[in-house]
Amino acid sequence: MSARPSNDDARLRERFASAVSPAVRADTRARWDAHGPRLVDTFRMLYGDAPGVDAALQRMIDGMAACAELRPAPLRALDAARERDPAWFLGQDMIGYTTYVDRFGGTLSGVAARVPYLRALGVRYLHLLPFLHARDGDNDGGFAVRDYDAVDPALGDDADLDALTARLRDAGISLCADLVLNHTADDHRWAQAARRGDPRYRAFYHVFPDRDLPDAYERTLGQVFPQTAPGNFTHVDGLGWVWTTFYGYQWDLDWSNPEVFVEMALTMLRLANRGIEAFRLDSTAYLWKRLGTDCMNQPEAHAILQALRAVSDIVAPGVLLKAEAIVPARELPPYFGLRADGAADTDSARRECHLAYHSTLMAALWAALAEQRGDLLAGVIAQTPALPAASGWLTYLRCHDDIGWNVLREEAAGGDGRAPFDLARVARFFAGDGDESYARGRSFQSAGSEHVHGTNGMAAALAGIDDAIAHGDAAALRAAERRLILLYGIVLACAGLPALYMGDEIALGNDEAYARDPARAGEGRWLHRPAMDWTLADAVATRTHDDTTAGRVGAALRRMIAVRRITRGLRGDAPMRALRFDDPALLGIERGDGVIALFNLAGREVAVPVPPSLADARWRDMLDDGRLDDGMPDDGGDSAWPTALAPHALRWLQRA
Ligand code: GLC
Repeated sequence: MSARPSNDDARLRERFASAVSPAVRADTRARWDAHGPRLVDTFRMLYGDAPGVDAALQRMIDGMAACAELRPAPLRALDAARERDPAWFLGQDMIGYTTYVDRFGGTLSGVAARVPYLRALGVRYLHLLPFLHARDGDNDGGFAVRDYDAVDPALGDDADLDALTARLRDAGISLCADLVLNHTADDHRWAQAARRGDPRYRAFYHVFPDRDLPDAYERTLGQVFPQTAPGNFTHVDGLGWVWTTFYGYQWDLDWSNPEVFVEMALTMLRLANRGIEAFRLDSTAYLWKRLGTDCMNQPEAHAILQALRAVSDIVAPGVLLKAEAIVPARELPPYFGLRADGAADTDSARRECHLAYHSTLMAALWAALAEQRGDLLAGVIAQTPALPAASGWLTYLRCHDDIGWNVLREEAAGGDGRAPFDLARVARFFAGDGDESYARGRSFQSAGSEHVHGTNGMAAALAGIDDAIAHGDAAALRAAERRLILLYGIVLACAGLPALYMGDEIALGNDEAYARDPARAGEGRWLHRPAMDWTLADAVATRTHDDTTAGRVGAALRRMIAVRRITRGLRGDAPMRALRFDDPALLGIERGDGVIALFNLAGREVAVPVPPSLADARWRDMLDDGRLDDGMPDDGGDSAWPTALAPHALRWLQRA
């Protein structure tokens, strides 16, 4: 780390302020004063202060000023409102929805036409998977971007994006887009220039002339796609070995080059000025490489995110940053600017991401279902780190990726009074192995039945709906519906911003057709990326399909979303605590304002004793007494606390 020149702050502040017009100067100057020194410090800590670094920093500051100047008035108004209410995204009315543009609406305009559907579902936060101009051919579902400044021509054009963001904003829905930070496509113009031998762009990537360093790194690196893209380096003719953590056509950017930071920071601001209100920062754990480590979660990766946060805090403070770091929850506090042990940093107000995926909770939801153990979830909730104000978890049941089991290694080992469990058995269960399994998922990137990596499949298929339909078994179908409703009941009762995955609100099943499409057959995650069934979705939304699986699941989800919306105790940042029960099948979650949610993870009836600390309380059933789950009626008293829960039943209760 090098010392900052003494008059640096004043000089750079002046440079920034003088580049914006008087109309925006007051706001931006105040923001620079609050966050500029942090940005400059972090940048210099990462890159030093050689002349080239100073030039890069100045170029970035000029670019930031230009973006501040161009920021449209409606977005400036949002910035101001959100500075006044920084926990705006944690209101109990915030519901997320994740989908692909093409699978959901065909094009960006098609998505815009579906805004009323999303609005009626209660959605306030829409994550559209990558829609920027992706590589031709294989492109990892759009995660290989060739041009960050253009919409993918197959999905629309820039005007369509502007129209969509305006439409969503009017409907009170924030658009979240992926910002693929770790890599570009191999046909991005930077990569093309690097191939041509341009030294400036060659330095944007990790390029090695021979295998010496790649082999040294490989000794401690993991593998993201061990079956379909083994190894972390790809040989490119005329260039050498290029670092490719994911697919060979996704070239890792070299973030130790300050020019990479400047380019990506300004990319983020240009997109923010298009009306994107949240960025899913893709693969954040991998941004910094260090020999002898797994090259994940390095301190410099956090410094990069902190500097990006300072950039957005100065120019676009209404924008949210969401870390996609699929690592155990105990490793996530630094992504919120906390120290690794969860303590607040006392040296400086480090600010990093507003949100991070709680993938431990997600994977544990499925493990708990397979193992019929609510105590697994109670353990995860008890171990979930506390977060600073105005930050939260993105909670979810499924997403476009596989369920990665490795985040549960510590939980699987047992401890704290909980029995261990076998992750390989859980993975086999969801792959449908064994007579007991109702699941129709598929193992992903796993070398054999003892090897654990991930599982693919739609939630409905994993919960048994596809299997019950295939067997025409009505009782099994009802049981499977209850399981899906149960898991979403947990997600919606937890702290954080809960996101539905596309089609789950109509219990959409697997897309088995992917295997017959040569363009998708080689990538198992397409199993759970089906096209939306709009005939069914519209029928469910208009309640003409109540007596079907989609209708029952849809009605239950809508009811829980509606109840959450009017219950302050279910705010994303209201307290959360797990209750202790002797029967491991039970899960009890206590939230704010006397809200208790009870869940039976087992396929048998379970008695629900009242915890001694709650013995004197009276309870009201928030979801109308078992209507969602065919649960057991209570014992006839006038309190809604149930004496028992039917298989896979749930209750949300509020102190009367
Ligand atoms: C993220 C995405 C995943 C993609 C990877 C590489 O993990 O969620 O779908 O394959 O990044 O971009």
